[in-house]
Amino acid sequence: MTDVPANFWAVVPAAGIGSRMRAGKPKQYLTIGDRSVLEHTLARLTAHPLIAGVVIALAEHDDYWPGLRHLPVKPLHRVTGGAERCHSVLHCLHYLQATQAPDTWVLVHDAARPCVRSTDIDNLILRCRDHEVGGLLGIPVHDTMKRCDTAGAVLDTVDRRQLWHAMTPQMFRLHQLADALQQALARELLVTDEASAMEALGLHPVMVEATADNIKITRPEDLALAAFYLDQQGAPPCA
Ligand code: C5P
Repeated sequence: MTDVPANFWAVVPAAGIGSRMRAGKPKQYLTIGDRSVLEHTLARLTAHPLIAGVVIALAEHDDYWPGLRHLPVKPLHRVTGGAERCHSVLHCLHYLQATQAPDTWVLVHDAARPCVRSTDIDNLILRCRDHEVGGLLGIPVHDTMKRCDTAGAVLDTVDRRQLWHAMTPQMFRLHQLADALQQALARELLVTDEASAMEALGLHPVMVEATADNIKITRPEDLALAAFYLDQQGAPPCA
């Protein structure tokens, strides 16, 4: 990777309130060891040599951010998030568009995925940097998949052979991603990740297989699992 210029930007939507955690505070501010989930995530991203800096979207009245003590030394720019994740990402992209070239690669990464490995970021960058669209990390589905109605009755079994869990980072070119998200919003499409917005334009992002420990903290039990994975991977790099 030494031949690749370090001009990849990380975009971190961190303006969610994480209601599924029932934790009293947004999940990115829950603690693992000596720091918050968000500080772990930022440390992971900025420890990667090709990441030039981070643009982070925070909720408008975020009382927790000022209390963080382990922020990265690389450039870190804050913007105010929006109503949904896609709005928060767009705000970050608009910020970057003022200073970065349209074809700059951005890696959008959930604040609540603190266990992302540097080697998985390497693989994503290597697979995507010459790709015409970009791509995302994910893992193949191994469970049997059922489609149910709203009452919980099983309707059918879905063929899992082509199914993947979509993760982050998701890596796309700055201008193309901003355009895709804007078009999705204009069409009132519910896009829960960046790849969906690209797919809606008829484009085909590449799926890059990740390590399964790149979990998103969503439910209370995920916090202990993330702590276990971070411990297994070794101490987090200091910010
Ligand atoms: O709720 P969910 O896990 O899907 O959120 C994914 C990421 O998007 C989280 O990092 C969350 O903070 C962020 N988000 C955001 N703005 C919103 C909603 C979610 O930045 N309005």
